[in-house]
Amino acid sequence: MNRNDVTLVVGGNGKTGRRVAERLERLGLTFRIGSRSGYPPFDWEDRETWLPSLNGVAQAYVTYYPDLCVLGALEAVQSFFAQAVNAGVKKMVFLSGRGEVEAERAERALKASGADWTILRCSFFSQNFSENFWLDPIIAGEVALPVRPVKEPFVDADDIADVAVAALTDVRHSGQLYELTGPRGLSFADAIKEIGLATGRDIRYLKVEPEAYRAALVEAQVPDSIINLILYLFDKVLDGRNEPITEGVQRALGRPPRDFSEYVQRTAASGVWG
Ligand SMILES: NC(=O)c1ccc[n+]([C@@H]2O[C@H](COP(=O)([O-])OP(=O)(O)OC[C@H]3O[C@@H](n4cnc5c(N)ncnc54)[C@H](OP(=O)(O)O)[C@@H]3O)[C@@H](O)[C@H]2O)c1
Repeated sequence: MNRNDVTLVVGGNGKTGRRVAERLERLGLTFRIGSRSGYPPFDWEDRETWLPSLNGVAQAYVTYYPDLCVLGALEAVQSFFAQAVNAGVKKMVFLSGRGEVEAERAERALKASGADWTILRCSFFSQNFSENFWLDPIIAGEVALPVRPVKEPFVDADDIADVAVAALTDVRHSGQLYELTGPRGLSFADAIKEIGLATGRDIRYLKVEPEAYRAALVEAQVPDSIINLILYLFDKVLDGRNEPITEGVQRALGRPPRDFSEYVQRTAASGVWG
């Protein structure tokens, strides 16, 4: 990349996008946040907003919201890739999900777009416990989930951001698909236990049936589309298919991934879990 190139960070306030933006800032590189609160605003639901955000952009870090497996996601990212290439974007680093056929279709659309690409196919983020779904239940002291006792190698969003920035700034990552996981598989019960030990709090973990979980989310006024998405992820993606640990972080960065315990210590010290 050229030092004057503008990078669009789509989802730049999100769990990985925010960290990518922080790193670009530290490197003194120019970037623009692509989200509804960015300037100009970028909204996946409003295609009129895409072109203004792409104006003058040479490369992009692309995260789709809410998830690549929702209805219409493939068509949206496919159209976005085409608009980006037409607008002069040369390189796209794309956040994808592990074990999702829909995400793999989106990856193929990027490969066919004509842009230079790097794909980050990630396992569940550790930061879901502190910046997303499971923060409130952890604070409340009880996490009830409809999940099988499978092991998930949670990946640290800081590792994802390190790989994304390496890919944006170094051409050697072009044409690479990195499957990014943490170094250790943990069940949700294991993960909650580690968080409880680090915070000195009694946090209970309960397995519940999917319908009871749906009822609890309905009562909490979570939108239907998000409820269906969460249940799909627990049923289809967390079925054990993603248990294997990969060498993606090591291959991309030449160092091992951060362990879940490092994330837990750091996050407990921040006080976010109470
Ligand atoms: N979370 C995981 O464990 C995980 C694992 C693997 C892959 N992924 C993939 O990561 C992607 C992001 O998921 P995430 O849960 O981690 O979210 P996230 O990146 O934390 O998403 C939040 C971001 O999305 C923006 N946003 C929300 N609605 C938007 C819209 N309609 N148009 C444009 N921007 C919008 C928000 O900013 P504004 O409010 O300013 O719009 C914010 O920047 C998904 O495609 C998912 O498949 C996630």
